[in-house]
Amino acid sequence: MSGLCPLTGNYYKKMAKVLSAIQPSGDLHLGNYLGAVRQWVASQEDNDSYFFIVDLHALTLDISPETLRSNTIKTAASLVASGLDQAKCTLFLQSHVPQHTALTWLLECTASYGELLRMTQFKDKGKGQESVRAGLLTYPVLMAADILLYNIDFVPVGDDQKQHLELTRNVAGRFNNRYGDTFVVPEAKVPEIGARIMDLQNPANKMSKSTATPLGTIGVMDDPKDIEKKIKKAVTDSSMLICYDRENHPGVTNLLEILSAVTGTNPLKLTEDFSNYGELKKAVAEAVIEALRPIRTKYYEILDNEDTLSEILRAGSEKAEVIAAVTLEKARRAMGLL
Ligand code: AMP
Ligand code: TRP
Repeated sequence: MSGLCPLTGNYYKKMAKVLSAIQPSGDLHLGNYLGAVRQWVASQEDNDSYFFIVDLHALTLDISPETLRSNTIKTAASLVASGLDQAKCTLFLQSHVPQHTALTWLLECTASYGELLRMTQFKDKGKGQESVRAGLLTYPVLMAADILLYNIDFVPVGDDQKQHLELTRNVAGRFNNRYGDTFVVPEAKVPEIGARIMDLQNPANKMSKSTATPLGTIGVMDDPKDIEKKIKKAVTDSSMLICYDRENHPGVTNLLEILSAVTGTNPLKLTEDFSNYGELKKAVAEAVIEALRPIRTKYYEILDNEDTLSEILRAGSEKAEVIAAVTLEKARRAMGLL
């Protein structure tokens, strides 16, 4: 972010503030990595960056305490293994910074029931459940609080989070209009390639931990042999054509998208490089295995040293809380709380 300072007329460059977060679903899958985490690692180089694990959001579905504990540790280890570095960003757990829940209540009192009911993630996750937790409905307000506490400019996320970001912008704008300028209104940053990696077996659905078909989801920590097997068995189509066309050739397009995201080559250009699906799958498997190999190695080293990981998270939450406390106080006063 740069411009001319209105006071001095001098050119200035200000570090943008970037924030994103991930659910503690254990090991990352390829969609998380290509759609989100890779951007986070790049962004920490020249931005003031905040990344965290949303362990409170995980409670919106029934999860056993042991699973939550172990998934949180694995997710934190995956993020550090992917390249997040505490010297370059603030890395922490959502539940360690109490201002997230405190601001959520203030924002819940400005959000409407109707707008929360319209969230597609609420409808998807609530579908077929005997009893839907109230927290699943208010999930996006906690997400808005996550972001608004830190005066954030950009939120790098995959395509599926765009609607939640729009809600965050609405909540912030409405609050500012009603109670005076309090929050920075953030912008979503969705990557052009890799924002929506699809399930390899069911390319109409996004790759996801919750609806995972075992063969359709590639885990970042998967054994290279399993990655090769999953890509070899990926659903393509009977046309035998290699075209980049999500609507009519979703399986092949997904493979091209993965290869493009990993290699940086334009997916349309890639369609010219292969004459059959076997060749394409071989190239995708090799590229994915090589991209993930160093992450997997580092992941096991980190898990062997859990104390270091806890210390990284503790230091991160301490830094985060200093900023979060200032914004919460501003919002409390704006609303008239003594
Ligand atoms: P979650 O695991 O749902 O917390 O997602 C963490 C991040 O990964 C969010 O920014 C999502 O938008 C992104 N993400 C999740 N699934 C995919 C996918 N299949 N393709 C691309 N990005 C994804
Ligand atoms: N809702 C996001 C997801 O399911 C996770 C999330 C929670 C988040 N709080 C956030 C993402 C703040 C970005 C910023 O992936």
